[in-house]
Amino acid sequence: MRLADRVFVVTGAGSGIGREIAIRFAAEGAKIAAVDLRAETAAQTVGMLAGQGHFSGAVDVASGPSVVEMFGAVDRHFGRVDGLVNNAGVDHVPGDGRDLLMKTGQQTIHMSDEGFTKLMAINVNGVFFCLREAVKLMQRDKRPGVVLNMSSIAGLGPNGNVSYAASKHAVLGITRATARELGRFGIRVNAICPGVIDTPMTAGVPEFALAPLKQATPLGRTGTPADIAQTAVFLASDESSFITGQWISPNGGLVMC
Ligand SMILES: NC(=O)c1ccc[n+]([C@@H]2O[C@H](COP(=O)([O-])OP(=O)(O)OC[C@H]3O[C@@H](n4cnc5c(N)ncnc54)[C@H](O)[C@@H]3O)[C@@H](O)[C@H]2O)c1
Repeated sequence: MRLADRVFVVTGAGSGIGREIAIRFAAEGAKIAAVDLRAETAAQTVGMLAGQGHFSGAVDVASGPSVVEMFGAVDRHFGRVDGLVNNAGVDHVPGDGRDLLMKTGQQTIHMSDEGFTKLMAINVNGVFFCLREAVKLMQRDKRPGVVLNMSSIAGLGPNGNVSYAASKHAVLGITRATARELGRFGIRVNAICPGVIDTPMTAGVPEFALAPLKQATPLGRTGTPADIAQTAVFLASDESSFITGQWISPNGGLVMC
């Protein structure tokens, strides 16, 4: 067991990649705090996990007070946190002009202040708020720790719209700045930059948009949540004990850099 008895908070654990990470981590012996905007989906995930004593709860990662409250509940349940998977995220929000993209061929000029700000609040503020609270607990207990931040190929180059790309680039900035600062406390911070993965997030993407991406992918397919969860297990385990401040991109070769 590569994660035996380590306590991991997984955000966005009620769906897609987050759910699969929770399942894989538990199979490796981890204790999971599965949290999501909707408590019931997080609870469903806990129902799928190997082992006993896991935790599920609700959180809005975009809200500082909600994140503080959630970590308080996790701390009361487990008494410590060994790792965080900062996975919760969205690829669009109302007001970001995505509905006009197909019609007009552009999105940027249709994006409202609220549309841009809301997506950044979830994908960027959320990553920071959760990281900060997790690290407070790790430092309180003078324990080493691991943080995994979910970026994207949209964080590596011109993939995705302006707000999503900005948010996923920012996740890499947070990863590097905090890895540098926290290394001396034994806390490692890394990022994963998935390519196109089959989850509810991409289920709405029409085949005519997906087909050219599959064609341009040397491995000839889209990814599965398992492709990402395997990478996450490696980065969360001691097998990667000399790796921090880095990103890895399971993307089938679609993006190489
Ligand atoms: N699917 C892909 O192709 C892909 C590619 C690159 C990166 N990613 C990233 O991977 C992560 C997971 O994506 P997924 O494909 O599994 O999507 P998903 O939509 O299946 O799951 C995302 C989860 O995040 C939760 N969430 C959304 N806003 C939240 C909030 N404010 N607070 C708490 N939870 C919230 C949702 O409820 C959902 O359960 C995201 O950060 C996404 O940007 C996905």
